[in-house]
Amino acid sequence: MCGIIGYCGKEEAAPYLLKGLYSLEYRGYDSAGLCVFAPQGMLTVKTAGRVADLQQKWDALPERPFARCGIGHTRWATDGAPTEKNAHPHRVGSVSIVHNGIIENSGALRVELQKKGYVFVSQTDTEVLAALLDEGYQAVGNIPAAIRYAESRVTGSFAVAAMFEPEKDTVWAFRKESPLIAATAPNGNFLASDIFAVSRYTSQYYPLQEEEIAVLRPDGLSFLQKDGTPLEKDPVSILTDSRQAEKGAFPHHMLKEIFDAPDAIRETVAAYLRDGLPSLSLLDPKGFLRRAKRLFIVACGTALNAGKIGKFYFEKLAGLSTYCAIASEFRYDSPILQDGDHFLFITQSGETADTLAAMRMVRGMGFSATALVNTPNSTAVNLADSVLYTRAGPEIAVASTKAYVAQCSLLYLVANAVALYREKINAVAVRENVHALYHDAPICIANLLADREAVRAISQKYCEAPSCFFIGRGLDYSLAEESSLKCKEISYIHCEAYPAGELKHGTIALIEENTLVVAIVSGEMVREKTFSNIREVRARGGKVLLVTDRHAETQVADDLYIVPAKKLFPVCAAVFFQLFAYYGALLRGCDVDKPRNLAKSVTVE
Ligand code: F6R
Repeated sequence: MCGIIGYCGKEEAAPYLLKGLYSLEYRGYDSAGLCVFAPQGMLTVKTAGRVADLQQKWDALPERPFARCGIGHTRWATDGAPTEKNAHPHRVGSVSIVHNGIIENSGALRVELQKKGYVFVSQTDTEVLAALLDEGYQAVGNIPAAIRYAESRVTGSFAVAAMFEPEKDTVWAFRKESPLIAATAPNGNFLASDIFAVSRYTSQYYPLQEEEIAVLRPDGLSFLQKDGTPLEKDPVSILTDSRQAEKGAFPHHMLKEIFDAPDAIRETVAAYLRDGLPSLSLLDPKGFLRRAKRLFIVACGTALNAGKIGKFYFEKLAGLSTYCAIASEFRYDSPILQDGDHFLFITQSGETADTLAAMRMVRGMGFSATALVNTPNSTAVNLADSVLYTRAGPEIAVASTKAYVAQCSLLYLVANAVALYREKINAVAVRENVHALYHDAPICIANLLADREAVRAISQKYCEAPSCFFIGRGLDYSLAEESSLKCKEISYIHCEAYPAGELKHGTIALIEENTLVVAIVSGEMVREKTFSNIREVRARGGKVLLVTDRHAETQVADDLYIVPAKKLFPVCAAVFFQLFAYYGALLRGCDVDKPRNLAKSVTVE
């Protein structure tokens, strides 16, 4: 969601800015722009389209200036439509800025600034912020003071890169809540909203903290405290191998990431094993999970769906009461919290605004928070009292795939560790479970990947369905929720997950001739009951695709796919549904890696 890039160096800025914007595309956006210090002044180029359109526009300039400094942006529309006018950078007076986040009081500020003579050409909150910076700068002629003034006037979240016309060849950056990093490399100095934009140039970076200012010039990168005094900062190593972010020979990042699933499981699990058993001193160094009387899992989207799988494992294996909450709703609920409650926040990116807001809230109430995160050095890591890492590697496709598999796997491992500690199961059983997770599940997934043509054929058969229900009971229902989300977000088919037994209490009214229903059935306990629900659907003309863990009579459903997972059916079968959604979307001509309206990292609440 929105991306920022900045460059100051001895070389031409525009190619670096454009390259940076291409690397930020995965975050999701609908317009793009850049601004450079040309010899005759600041020059801005914007487009309502893709970065490739911006590049075309730049290349088509009659006289392209040689500029050594500039800022660029990909915008995911919040305030105002995705038009060229609303695209960043925004220039007001002597200031040009790009901005991630939301200025919540921009309406009142806009009116106040208009009274002072400012004229706005866009509908964005960003232009208001630019006007405040200009106002502050005109008043005192000092940039840190202008930044302090603007910050003191706004509420909300922001990461900003700014250029001030009189201060040639300098880029200034500051932030609150939204992340921003700076880096220095042999070819110049960079600013970016995440490391993927710079990791090809350097293996180190500086996370910019709130109350700090970064200053980029062609000859160096420096930092200031908010009051303008110099600040020394230590760089942080980029842990992620940026090559993992390349799609290589795969046609799409999503397919490559689905194929990464077996490694994602092995690497995530291996890091927490000692002598074949999950190590509580690594998984729970501060004892939060051991002491917890109740566990609250808070997350959004796919991460929340993984949490629901985790809830099942925590309750079933470890006897730990577990509740799942949608992060964006959590603050409006009135949970009766008590001593012994512990919070687990799941987030692939570590930057999801709703999840971070919920985390700040519970920590403010005095509860401890564990973050289960895929991205090292993310905001969630910095906010949490303890961290559990999935080691899935970078996820670039907007739809989360390998991260979900890794999240479910790690939750299973933690639940086993807590179960062993609480003497709910013995070490022999835990060893068996770990073997199923670390050894059997990756093999099962690898076999499924090898059988992808069969999955593709099933997708082909159903990809024109106007809508689809995913049904299951218990754990199968939680997997149905994730499978339905995956399908709708990349293929744009209206999908709905339903507890199989609940269908007949209303929703079955929607089943008619050829309505597609995907039924998920694993284990013995719910098998016959869900089969009855399948019969109810088929009796009304619905078409049923059954995905199950063992042999079933072919006449049970119209189509059958078996994922022979011994213990970790949701983890393995998730990959079937990821492929099912991928091929369906492809056959429908959708942009699989960058589905419409979506952002990879959702940094606004
Ligand atoms: C769906 C998807 C989203 C994310 C959600 C949370 O494929 O990717 O639903 O799971 O936005 O993101 P993180 O895990 O980064 O907090």
